[in-house]
Amino acid sequence: MTVRPIRYLGDPVLRKPAKKVSRVDDSIRRLIADMTESMYAAHGVGIAAPQIGVGLRVVIIGMPDEEPFALINPEVIKRSGERRLDEGCLSVPGYRGTVTRSLSVVVKALDENGREVRVKAEGDMLAQALEHETDHVNGLLYVDRLNAKTDLVKLAAPRTTPDGREGDEEA
Ligand code: NI
Repeated sequence: MTVRPIRYLGDPVLRKPAKKVSRVDDSIRRLIADMTESMYAAHGVGIAAPQIGVGLRVVIIGMPDEEPFALINPEVIKRSGERRLDEGCLSVPGYRGTVTRSLSVVVKALDENGREVRVKAEGDMLAQALEHETDHVNGLLYVDRLNAKTDLVKLAAPRTTPDGREGDEEA
C-alpha cells in the first residue's frame, strides 16, 4: 500500500468526471488499498480516486471507528429531504463551508469483489459522505454547492490534533 499525495482545488483531475470501472480486478483492489492508506494518512473520513490523481469512479468511506469500505461506480439512486451541514474536503485544506445535503440517500455501487451493493443512510455523517464522494467522481466539489460565497469560511489555524476535532471531518 502506498500513500499518494492529495490533489488540491485547481488540479484539473478533480474537475473531470471520472471513468466508469469496467472490471473490478486486482489493479482496482490495489487502488482501493492505496486510497484507504492515503485517506487515513490525511485524517479523512472519505476519499475519491480523483483526489489521488486517478480518474476512476472509486471511492472509500471511512467513518470514525468503523471499517472502511470501497464503492465502485457509485450512483445516488434515491435522495430525500434537505439539511444544511458544515462540510470540509481534503482537497480544499483550511476551509469549511455550509452546504445543503439530502437527509437520506441510497447509493448503488459495486463492492471490491465486483458485487452489487446498496448503501442506505439517513441523517448522519455517512449520508453526507456518500453524497460528497459521489460528487467527487462527477467532478464536483462541495464549494460548488455553497448557497453564497459567505458560506465558505477560512479556518483561523490549521488543525493541530491528528484526529481532528468533533465536526472537523474532511473527505
Ligand atoms: Ni472531498
